[in-house]
Amino acid sequence: MEKLPRLLRFEFARIRELMKLVVTGGCGFIGSHFIRFVLKQHRDIRILNVDLLTYAGRGQNLADLKRHPRYRFVRADIASPAVWKLLSRFRPDALINFAAESHVDRSVHYASAFLHTNTLGTQNLLDATRAARTGRFVQVSTDEVYGSIPGKRRASENWLLLPSSSYSASKAAADLLCLAAHRTHGQDVVVTRCTNNYGPYQFPEKLIPLMITNALHDIPLPVYGDGQQRRDWMHVEDHCRGVLLALERGRAGEIYNFGMGTEPPNLSIVKKILTILGKPDRLIRFVKDRPGHDRRYAVDTAKSRRELGWRPQVDFEEGLVHTVEWYRQNVNWWLRLKDASFKKFYMKNYGRT
Ligand code: NAD
Ligand code: DAU
Repeated sequence: MEKLPRLLRFEFARIRELMKLVVTGGCGFIGSHFIRFVLKQHRDIRILNVDLLTYAGRGQNLADLKRHPRYRFVRADIASPAVWKLLSRFRPDALINFAAESHVDRSVHYASAFLHTNTLGTQNLLDATRAARTGRFVQVSTDEVYGSIPGKRRASENWLLLPSSSYSASKAAADLLCLAAHRTHGQDVVVTRCTNNYGPYQFPEKLIPLMITNALHDIPLPVYGDGQQRRDWMHVEDHCRGVLLALERGRAGEIYNFGMGTEPPNLSIVKKILTILGKPDRLIRFVKDRPGHDRRYAVDTAKSRRELGWRPQVDFEEGLVHTVEWYRQNVNWWLRLKDASFKKFYMKNYGRT
């Protein structure tokens, strides 16, 4: 074998000592931000991104990392036997599970895909990571598992699970399976539950990017019911910070909520977007309400602040202006996502708006 130059030999030795992470769903909205965030924050982490590339996953979201020395991508279904092989070969120190069917409206029409990925896929990953002796398993879950929160109350981590959609029910089931794996097998599992995210690279089916992209083309903006439902919007980078802290500092078998503590009604968000774009309110169309629509989400974040030292850093007004600008500048990214299959879903969900 040819003798390696000294510097290269040193690098090779160092790479073998790197911490290895598997990130599933890393070609989606939050997963792609998380991968970029971690590689930037830590020079001693290597990442294997496992993603099926469904309609919501785009390799293009991480095009800048194509030749990154600490990043690899493999296309695979988290619910398939293929991930067992991948994990036994890569031998990660930890796995962060972002992979999911994530859109509530789609779960109204096609529930079984949600059970396949969100529930069976999570169980398959739990079993495969246990067999591969992977260290920590971080399950990226959602505040939607608590269902609609009444009055002025805030759901803490031990709040009753009352999911309203097949999406949130499939996520709640996955959370329970993760906690069961901890109790039954002593598996090192941490569950995070975050409120609504926004930011660049979000698929234009979710409220904020749908409203921005429709408004940019003067297409009506479909607002469900009276538009007075409340969500707690968080910039995706604040969520990524939280997931990384849960990986580093979370206690095994515990759940951590992330939220901003704000609750603007949907209609006010839509109007803000129109104002930023200089578009008229008459683009708004009130449409038939989403079936099973949760009225309000609100979580108590005292535990993640106290135990993880997590604090959100991005102001909503600034984050929204920046996000609108990103969609304005990246029409090519989102226009191709609003393809024939998107239009088919749109017609099925909204009819003619
Ligand atoms: P997304 O829909 O943008 O991305 C999901 C990714 O998972 C895609 O890249 C897709 O290709 C991949 N995927 C889907 N099925 C797969 C399978 N069977 N095997 C492998 N990969 C598969 O979703 P997102 O908004 O980035 O959400 C990521 C995670 O965060 C989800 O688990 C979601 O429940 C959770 N979450 C999202 C929000 C939010 O506001 N978007 C808030 C809280 C929690
Ligand atoms: O709370 C966290 C959850 O937030 C995540 O777990 C989900 O993956 C994510 O999709 C999101 O779920 P929501 O259903 O809250 O997000 P969505 O963007 O679909 O809708 C936000 C609000 O806006 C909700 O009250 C429904 C409303 N809405 C949405 C759409 C797409 C409309 O009024 N019109 C629309 O066309």
